[in-house]
Amino acid sequence: MIIVHDPPAMQQLADDARKSGKTIAFVPTMGALHAGHLTLIRKATGYGDSVVTSIFVNPTQFGAGEDFDRYPRNLDKDAALAAEAGSDVVFAPSAGAMYPQGYATFVSVEGIAGLLEGQSRPGHFRGVATVVAKLCLIVKPHVLLLGQKDGQQIIILRRMLMDLNIPVRLVVVPTVREKDGLAMSSRNVYLTPGQREEAPVLYASLRMAEQRLREGERNAETVRSAMRDMITSGSHGVIDYVSVARGDTLEELSVIAPPLSVMISLAVRFGPTRLIDNISLTL
Ligand code: PAJ
Repeated sequence: MIIVHDPPAMQQLADDARKSGKTIAFVPTMGALHAGHLTLIRKATGYGDSVVTSIFVNPTQFGAGEDFDRYPRNLDKDAALAAEAGSDVVFAPSAGAMYPQGYATFVSVEGIAGLLEGQSRPGHFRGVATVVAKLCLIVKPHVLLLGQKDGQQIIILRRMLMDLNIPVRLVVVPTVREKDGLAMSSRNVYLTPGQREEAPVLYASLRMAEQRLREGERNAETVRSAMRDMITSGSHGVIDYVSVARGDTLEELSVIAPPLSVMISLAVRFGPTRLIDNISLTL
């Protein structure tokens, strides 16, 4: 496994791999690797002869007052974990190499990026779309693997890849969870023991909502309201949003009329820690 810091060196490596007929599978991350990330990397070995994992805490996707400064960083440990999971290359650029003095170009996916996460975190998806577009131009992958954990991110990046004619196949990997259902996240380490104990109510509320829809509930607000009740009665979490939306546009639903793909999602704060989760289903 090799670690590359310099974007032009990464581009050269990607060109050489492509010239020798290798397929490149790419897993972008912000590090603090956990079992969710490692599942993506292991899956990637089935899609590429060469697996590249990027580790870059991307400053442009964090808002003022968010956790950019305290986001967990440990490159040596992450590189060892990535190698063990099957990564051939770790690309770990500096912020200065990705956004040098005078940097001025951003990618915005209009409309959908302003909903849900975008409403709570203005500018977040502009940062995500920008860095993933740049990473695709640097790593030159054939296949890009993303986790279902960040459901809206997938929808936005799929749109961006299509709109910008970036010739990359997108593979979505199901959310990896703790035994009690809590979605694995780099931010779970911020939770106090009490918050950690309460946090599984998030997935429980998503499962309950899914069950209601599968049993025939057709009023989306009834489902959202039941989710809010379950979360507020079962935890001290403060709800940012709960959503029952169209799976393609994330437009909030009122009456549910199958056939339909639905994304049920939520963001809840436990103290300063904001957790997100979702379930996608087809009715
Ligand atoms: P990060 O939060 O580090 O996540 C990297 C990838 O791992 C994303 O595709 C995310 O959906 C996936 N992932 C995280 N937790 C997961 C879990 N429990 N199960 C399955 N997959 C999981 O998402 C980002 O970084 C950034 O926005 C990035 C795309 C790297 C751009 O900076």
